[in-house]
Amino acid sequence: MVIITICVGSSCYMRGSDDLASALERLIEKEALEAKVDLVGSFCMSECSPGISIRVGDHQYRDVRFEDAEHFFYQEIFPHIDVKK
Ligand code: FES
Repeated sequence: MVIITICVGSSCYMRGSDDLASALERLIEKEALEAKVDLVGSFCMSECSPGISIRVGDHQYRDVRFEDAEHFFYQEIFPHIDVKK
């Protein structure tokens, strides 16, 4: 199980973390990965930036943009998922 944590603190929320979470949720459904990925929210991760903070497993990212959701999913999330299991 890969845990994706999206910051929903005020700075990230204002920058579209809710929309980013919805976009990632749609991609998870599109790839039928609901049983392998858990999407959760978090208070401020103390990494406020012009973008959104997100953690994929142990990897922390900041300055992620809603418009980059698909690219981020396939570059940074998809490779961490064991699709064969
Ligand atoms: S509000 Fe998201 S890192 Fe601070």
